[in-house]
Amino acid sequence: MVSFKELGLVNTREMFAKAIKGGYAIPAFNFNNMEQLQAIVKACAETKSPVILQVSKGARNYANQTLLRYMAQGAVEYAKELGWEHPQICLHLDHGDSFELCKSCVDFGFSSVMIDASHLPYEENIALTKKVVEYAHQYDVTVEAELGVLAGVEDEVSSAVSHYTKPEEVVDFATRTGCDSLAISIGTSHGAYKFTPEQCTRDPKTGKLVPPPLAFDVLDAIMEQLPGFPIVLHGSSSVPQEYVDMINATGGKLPDAVGIPEEQLRKAAKSAVCKINIDSDSRLAFTAAVRKVFAEKPGEFDPRKYCGPARDLMEELYKHKIINVLGSNGKAE
Ligand code: 13P
Repeated sequence: MVSFKELGLVNTREMFAKAIKGGYAIPAFNFNNMEQLQAIVKACAETKSPVILQVSKGARNYANQTLLRYMAQGAVEYAKELGWEHPQICLHLDHGDSFELCKSCVDFGFSSVMIDASHLPYEENIALTKKVVEYAHQYDVTVEAELGVLAGVEDEVSSAVSHYTKPEEVVDFATRTGCDSLAISIGTSHGAYKFTPEQCTRDPKTGKLVPPPLAFDVLDAIMEQLPGFPIVLHGSSSVPQEYVDMINATGGKLPDAVGIPEEQLRKAAKSAVCKINIDSDSRLAFTAAVRKVFAEKPGEFDPRKYCGPARDLMEELYKHKIINVLGSNGKAE
C-alpha cells in the first residue's frame, strides 16, 4: 500500500472547492507517454495551474500502469525542478470499470479514481460507486462517478448515442453513493468526431461544420439540484481546426472532425463544472507536428527530431487551454 501523499500528489477535494468558488475549471489531461507528460508539467509549472493527470484503460494497456504511476511521481519532482514550489498534481484513474481496478489504483498511489458504471442500470451504478467510495475514502482518495451516457469512442469506452443526465436523479445518486464529483452528459462526446454532419450546420464561408450547442439548461437544472457540487465534463476537446488542417495538408485524412467550441467550455468553466477532460486535442497536436516534420524532412529518422516538435506544440496547446479556456492559471502558486 502506497499513499499518494508520500508521492507528493494531491486529491481533488481542495482543488474543486477552490475552482467552484473561483469560477474556473481544473484541466484533466490524459497522458500515455513521456513527451505528453513533459508538455503538461512544463505548461502547468509555467502557468502555475493545478492539474489532473489522467490514466485511461488504453493508456494502461499501452504504457503499463506501474510505469505511468512512477512517471506521475517523477512529474512532481520535475515540476519542482522547473521552479514550481508547491505543485498541485492529482493522479487520476480515468473510466475505471471495476471495483478491483479502482482498489488497485488506490493501493498503488493514485490520489483520485473514477468509477464509470454509467452503462449499468441506475441501482447497480449506485451500488458499485458506493463500494468504491467506501474503499477509497479510507485512504482520502477522491472518487468521480458518472450519470448519463456520452456518445463517441474513447480508447475502449464507446457508445453510439448519448443520454443526457437526468437532473431529477442527481441528488439521490450523490447522497447515496457519497461520490466527490459527478461526470454528467450534456452533449459533449469522446474523440475527434463528436458530431455527425447531420447534427451540425455548415458555415457557408469556410465549409466547416458548426456543432450544436451544449445543453446548458440540463447543467443549470443539475446545479439547482446540487448547489456547489463538483461537476465534471468528459469529451471536451475542441478539435482545433488548425491541427486538423495541418494533418490533412500533409497526407492525413480527418474529414469533418469537429469538437466542442471553446467559448462553450469557457462558459461551463465559470459554473460548477470544475474538471474538464481533454485528450483528443493533444493527440491531434502531436500528430500534426509529427506529420509536418515528415512532410518537410522525409529523411528524418531520429525520434527526438519529431517527438520534440510534437512536445512543443502540445505544451502550447495546454497553456492555451489553461489560460484562455479554463482560467486555472495562477491558481496553484
Ligand atoms: P476528448 O476525446 O474530447 O479529448 O475527451 C477526453 C475524455 O473525456 C477523457 O476521459
